Amino acid sequence: MELKKFLDYSKFDSGLASVLTAISQGSILIQKKISRLSLENLEGSTGTKNIQNEDVKKLDILANNIFLEKFKESENVAMVGCEELENPETFNHSISNFLINMDPLDGSSNIDVGVNIGSIFGIWHAKENEKLSENSLLKAGREQIASAYVVYGSSTVMVIASQKGVQCFILDTQNNAFILSKSNITIPGKCKYYSVNYGNFQYFNTNIQNSIAKLQKTYSLRYIGSLVADFHRNLLEGGVFLYPKDSKNPNGKLRLMYEANPLSFIAERAGGIGTNGSNNILDIKPKTLHERIPLFIGNSNVIENILI
Ligand code: AHG
Ligand code: MN
Ligand code: MN
Repeated sequence: MELKKFLDYSKFDSGLASVLTAISQGSILIQKKISRLSLENLEGSTGTKNIQNEDVKKLDILANNIFLEKFKESENVAMVGCEELENPETFNHSISNFLINMDPLDGSSNIDVGVNIGSIFGIWHAKENEKLSENSLLKAGREQIASAYVVYGSSTVMVIASQKGVQCFILDTQNNAFILSKSNITIPGKCKYYSVNYGNFQYFNTNIQNSIAKLQKTYSLRYIGSLVADFHRNLLEGGVFLYPKDSKNPNGKLRLMYEANPLSFIAERAGGIGTNGSNNILDIKPKTLHERIPLFIGNSNVIENILI
């Protein structure tokens, strides 16, 4: 039998290892909650709205609290920006210098209907001698040390991109440990899928409508409605995901700091690309923590030849 390779944190420097440990421990707790959702009265909404004026689900808040607690315990995280928090959370530890932007629960509309959801993390370093302020979180995506996501799906998987490439780990629920399942992932050269919310077609500009008409001729449509799960499928199988701006959402819907940046960092390390239609996502100078951005991400040849 093949020897199991556990998620080996010794490959990373000790600070990053501690951040990744926090993410893996948090996601194991969340996976357990998801698998018992209605049994623990975790379905549905809190009845409140977040800073984006979006309905906040019970699991959004639970995931937010679990990851904040794990990052606090790690003592290596100085500041966390989060979809669910108007302002960043700051921890005062003497050894802490990692800065995290996170979407603790991506795909909230799929929580209560048994469809894949996930968590997304961008990981930056404070600069040497940097005096931390809210602006410290507004670093360009290219400056990420690493990024990671978890998909709670048919199995629970964690994908990590760092200088060492892109690796995928599967959660062994019997042993509460992530085991290496795919190493040095690259997006397959042949694109199979395109992913877009067709319900918005009438609101797209003519250029986008024409591009989608071209995609339609060649590729199969797949759209889950959880960015992280759509991205994961396209990463493994070959595909492009697009959430363009439209007449209802003039800046797009997805968030630069905790959706577009972490996933574009992974896409680029896997040989793909993330753009907003005119600029590489990773080169954009962020203005605010919760800013929205159009996103085209996946196989670079398709994005460069058809979509922009
Ligand atoms: P979140 O649940 O973190 O608010 O993100 C939802 C996002 C993203 O996951 C998904 O790709 C997109 O919303 C789907 O939007 P539509 O329902 O408009 O297609
Ligand atoms: Mn999201
Ligand atoms: Mn979310």
